[in-house]
Amino acid sequence: MIERIKELQKAVESFSPKNIEEIEEFRLKFLSKKGLIPALFNEFRDVAAEEKKLVGVEINKLKQFTTDKLNELKSLLVVTENNTVDIDLSRPGDPIKLGSRHPLSVARNEIITIFTRLGFVVGDGPEIEDDDHNFGKLNFPADHPARDMQDTFFISSDLNVLLRTHTSSVQAHEMSEMKPPIRSLAPGRVYRNEAISARAHCLFHQIEGLYVDKNVSFADLKQTLDYFAKEMFGEHTQIRMRPSYFPFTEPSAEVDVSCTLCNGKGCNVCKGTGWLEILGCGMVDPNVFIAAGIDPEIYSGFAFGMGIERITMLKYGIKDLRLFFENDLRFLEQFTAAY
Ligand code: DAH
Repeated sequence: MIERIKELQKAVESFSPKNIEEIEEFRLKFLSKKGLIPALFNEFRDVAAEEKKLVGVEINKLKQFTTDKLNELKSLLVVTENNTVDIDLSRPGDPIKLGSRHPLSVARNEIITIFTRLGFVVGDGPEIEDDDHNFGKLNFPADHPARDMQDTFFISSDLNVLLRTHTSSVQAHEMSEMKPPIRSLAPGRVYRNEAISARAHCLFHQIEGLYVDKNVSFADLKQTLDYFAKEMFGEHTQIRMRPSYFPFTEPSAEVDVSCTLCNGKGCNVCKGTGWLEILGCGMVDPNVFIAAGIDPEIYSGFAFGMGIERITMLKYGIKDLRLFFENDLRFLEQFTAAY
């Protein structure tokens, strides 16, 4: 009887159906009430007592194996309209479409790569901030208009917890938590209560840079940003600095690059001026150092902050900021990059 069981096992193993009918035939032949396997159980009654244990185990194994195979065949089955089995394991798989990086990620990674060549290290800070890190430690006077409800999304009713309005808040963390020399970059999301338009959004991205050490000068700042502009927009790019005001830097400046479209000749993108504003910067205000426990008599530093959307728009000639947030594949698929 063991021989018969082995033969059946082989038959089951080698069975490969061509269509659904053959699978049904297989079931009838082996597992149905009048099938070969139940027949074995009938014969089993007459097996000699001393063989019963061995034969019983083998019949059960065969039954289990056959049931498993039947279930597997059924689950593999792809039935086409005319009820034929359609499994062609040699067919090449369907190609999986590769995504592309979001243009803001492409630009962010490129900015980071440029500054890491100068020794800057990427840091991080919370998007939900307290007043102190977003404003107080950055030397914003208590009545500064940027704290006004119109600009800031407040979370707590005492106006102490808010969504950060700029990545400069990361400076406040880093200066309190790290010891100079500090050379950090902080990319991330920022929020402002602004009406959404082609040029403004309530959510956007910035990258903050901070360099604190002994003897850091304004010339170092200018040289760093000049290097950045040439790497980012091309070697013929010029920068110019215009005096400006930020509470946390003194002196402060806004930086323009020569227009990437007309090379400074004047066009409608640069509104005929030949220049495009890209960032704000300055020397870290002594009050900011004192708030962070760094001695301004020993250390000096520079900081800068830029909008990633703005840089991306200039680099790729994108005219409407809302495109970044709409996730329209026709727009996104145009940005493939190694970054
Ligand atoms: N935080 C400023 C803003 O959001 C940008 C900025 C200006 C950052 C000057 C700086 C800086 O680090 O030094 O408009």
